[in-house]
Amino acid sequence: MSNVTPSTSRWPARIIYLATILVTAAAAVAITYLLTNISDRQHEAQQRYVVLENLTEDSIDPTLWRKNFPRQYDGYMRTADMVRAKHAGSDAIDKLAEDKYLKHLYAGYAFSIDYREKRGHAYMLKDQEDTERVKQKKQPGACLHCHAAIMPVYRKEGGGDSWEQIKEGFRKVCEMDWNDAHKLVSHPVVCADCHDPKTVQLRVTRPAFIMGIQALAQSDDKVPHLPSVERWRTGNKKSDYDPNKDASRQELRTLVCAQCHVEYYFQPKTNLLIYPWHKGLKMDQIEEYYDTIDFKDWTHKDSGAPMLKAQHPEFELWSQGIHARSGVSCADCHMPYMREGAVKISDHHVRSPLLNIARACQTCHRQDEKEMRARVDIVQDRTRSMLKAAEIGVKDLIDALKSAKAKGVAEARLKPAQALHRKAQWRLDFVMAENSMSFHAPQESARILGEAVDYARQGQITLLKE
Ligand code: HEC
Ligand code: HEC
Ligand code: HEC
Ligand code: HEC
Ligand code: HEC
Repeated sequence: MSNVTPSTSRWPARIIYLATILVTAAAAVAITYLLTNISDRQHEAQQRYVVLENLTEDSIDPTLWRKNFPRQYDGYMRTADMVRAKHAGSDAIDKLAEDKYLKHLYAGYAFSIDYREKRGHAYMLKDQEDTERVKQKKQPGACLHCHAAIMPVYRKEGGGDSWEQIKEGFRKVCEMDWNDAHKLVSHPVVCADCHDPKTVQLRVTRPAFIMGIQALAQSDDKVPHLPSVERWRTGNKKSDYDPNKDASRQELRTLVCAQCHVEYYFQPKTNLLIYPWHKGLKMDQIEEYYDTIDFKDWTHKDSGAPMLKAQHPEFELWSQGIHARSGVSCADCHMPYMREGAVKISDHHVRSPLLNIARACQTCHRQDEKEMRARVDIVQDRTRSMLKAAEIGVKDLIDALKSAKAKGVAEARLKPAQALHRKAQWRLDFVMAENSMSFHAPQESARILGEAVDYARQGQITLLKE
């Protein structure tokens, strides 16, 4: 041991003296360099708070925001990149070709014509323009609420900036023919949809969302994941719950996404877009609401049942999971913080967190990347096999109903089985149309799929009885 480093005591004192001076001088230079560098970086850090140049509610073109926020702009533009994870990606896979059961499940409905896997935000307007569901079927302007930068159109059609006028414009655009409304928009989701153009504060803009969350606030549903709603309920309720005033910043990091990643329906005749949260966010509560207003999306071609189609209930399923309960927001996983120099920014390349485990998960979880991926895989693979069982169950019930109808079985005997078809497929679809392959709430998804299989088989048994 003692021979590894020479002892300084053997060095002449002069050399030690000289060395000390040199080291001190070098340290001084280094410290000066560091300080200059830090002050540069602090300056850099402050740059994102510069006064915004003439950004207004009509500044929807993101290039107008680029000058002030080049990093967020770059991330936002990267949603056009082609990416792929196991159950997610941007190659717009044809779901109908991939899963032979889907055409049967959606028989008689537009989703049996064309149904693709979703992809990055950059494509949202283009994919709606291109789908055969729009090309072959008449669709309303309501479709654009979640696929385009549409707020200026609502204000113009409604005649002003007040909430009442925006709602009026929204109603008008919902009722329009899709082709006419489409002429009024030019961009997919933009900066101004989630940010106030004057302050860059997070905010929500979409009328259907604001009305939906107000209905939820007035429901009896318990919402531990939305503390501001709980607070509003115990407050004096002088005015409606207002997410832009009442919600915390952490809640807004979820609510900006819940503007679109939710279940919805169009009010018959008016095509007004509505988020069905009047009884709560859970699958059963949404179903109860639809049953109460006697709503159906379509009548199944083979079974004759009055059907519901679930659409991307990410916010609803997230709300039932452990992450929501722990206060983890959509942005925590899908827009994690990243460092660029001394600047901490949110990754605006919104995508699957599995393409970015280090920042999306490991800020909170200590396990290595491989282990985190394995944990997600286990959950998703189990769900995939439960989904298959539920799909086969529902398909069998459809076949049973089809042949019972062909044999001329009385309407009164078909009815209970048709009601069970509606219930079973709504459950199957709720998990299938949700985009995390159950990750957002695995146990809730398993419960729902268990019920789907049960109702499907009950339906078959009903038809067997004399
Ligand atoms: C204005 C509506 C809207 C808002 C707001 C919105 N999304 Fe989306 N999102 C969409 C649409 C529409 C698509 C599908 C686009 C397509 O398939 O062309 C999509 C796709 C996605 C995808 C799939 C990306 C891929 O590579 O496949 C993810 C992940 C996503 N959104 C997460 C979020 C998160 C997280 C937020 C909130 C920070 C959010 N979205 C806010 C409408 C929206
Ligand atoms: C409540 C918001 C909302 C409304 C209203 C809405 N979408 Fe979407 N749409 C989304 C989101 C979120 C996605 C991405 C998630 C997914 O595909 O499941 C999406 C995905 C899509 C896709 C790509 C995947 C696919 O399904 O093939 C198409 C096409 C599409 N929507 C068309 C439409 C049409 C047509 C309408 C009107 C009938 C409509 N959307 C209304 C939010 C909405
Ligand atoms: C704890 C982390 C976490 C939170 C919180 C979270 N997600 Fe996810 N999300 C995931 C994971 C993991 C997946 C699965 C990705 C995959 O299969 O590649 C996913 C998948 C998705 C997808 C499909 C992604 C794709 O590229 O196809 C969408 C859309 C989505 N989430 C939206 C949301 C929304 C909206 C919220 C909030 C209401 C939310 N997520 C909250 C982790 C999270
Ligand atoms: C779908 C919603 C959404 C869109 C669209 C969006 N952002 Fe953001 N942005 C967020 C969220 C969420 C945060 C995190 C805010 C927080 O935690 O306070 C954020 C944060 C920011 C911040 C604060 C610094 C940071 O990075 O955390 C800036 C600046 C910003 N965004 C600029 C932009 C610009 C410029 C665009 C358009 C090119 C844009 N955003 C588009 C959701 C969005
Ligand atoms: C902001 C912090 C945060 C982030 C980001 C986060 N998690 Fe979590 N995660 C938690 C908390 C908190 C729990 C609850 C466990 C607890 O309280 O001990 C949890 C629980 C889990 C569980 C157990 C779920 C269960 O049902 O018990 C898994 C698996 C998980 N996280 C995976 C992930 C993955 C994968 C990502 C990234 C896509 C991620 N988490 C991102 C905080 C986070």
